[in-house]
Amino acid sequence: MSDYLETLETSNNPENLSENLLANLIQVKDVTKKYRLGNNEVEVLHGINLEVKAGEFVSIMGQSGSGKTTLMNIIGMLDRPTEGSILIKDIDITKKSQKELVDFRRRTVGFVFQQFHLIPSLTAYENVALPLVFSGDKDNSAVESALERVGLAHRMHHKPVELSGGEQQRVAIARAVVMKPKILLADEPTGALDATTGSMIISLLKSLAGDMTVIMVTHNSELAEYSDRIVYLKDGNVAE
Ligand SMILES: Nc1ncnc2c1ncn2[C@@H]1O[C@H](COP(=O)(O)OP(=O)(O)OP(=O)(O)O)[C@@H](O)[C@H]1O
Ligand SMILES: [Mg+2]
Repeated sequence: MSDYLETLETSNNPENLSENLLANLIQVKDVTKKYRLGNNEVEVLHGINLEVKAGEFVSIMGQSGSGKTTLMNIIGMLDRPTEGSILIKDIDITKKSQKELVDFRRRTVGFVFQQFHLIPSLTAYENVALPLVFSGDKDNSAVESALERVGLAHRMHHKPVELSGGEQQRVAIARAVVMKPKILLADEPTGALDATTGSMIISLLKSLAGDMTVIMVTHNSELAEYSDRIVYLKDGNVAE
């Protein structure tokens, strides 16, 4: 934990910036994932190797069932690989205990999902404030700046039902970045939106990249073109 925070501090120092832009922030090494279904084991990732640089915007594409969500969940520390390792800033997160991972994940990764996953009874402001509440952070100043960053400061007292789909996704993005994570993971962030709104959301993600590494899963090759690089998954293997 502390070694990681130290490395992040160094990475925030502008003197190290150019060095950091060239450095790999995420290294996925020989990752396999097997699921047990009754007596059967099914391997859905077959030894994935992938490196993503700090500030890079990467799209992951591939057919349904090719393992995109599984890989995102492993990079995002929501799930563990069966074999292989994940290094974030040269720190092997697969060696961390579940308890260590909770705090580490909260400060390192933001998540955006297809269905927004906002809490309906809370306002936009309260939804964005949740990660701060969970981490015991008393300073709420980041909430307004996160909402400003997604262009929704004027809607902060509205509840999800009073917002359009695109606006709800922008609230979800503000919530994902409020802890200033180094990594933003978006699994089909435009899947529930029309084409115009979808491209606005991707432009927003693109504007956040640089400041943070953005990895997005999409089925839309036009939207994938916004990213720096497209990684193709085919039957649990990378076919770049
Ligand atoms: N918890 C689980 N238990 C068993 N099998 C699983 C589990 N989660 C996913 N799988 C299987 O792993 C494979 C990859 O699933 P995954 O959700 O990663 O695919 P995906 O590429 O995200 O697909 P989609 O484009 O439909 O979202 C699928 O065959 C799926 O059925
Ligand atoms: Mg998926």
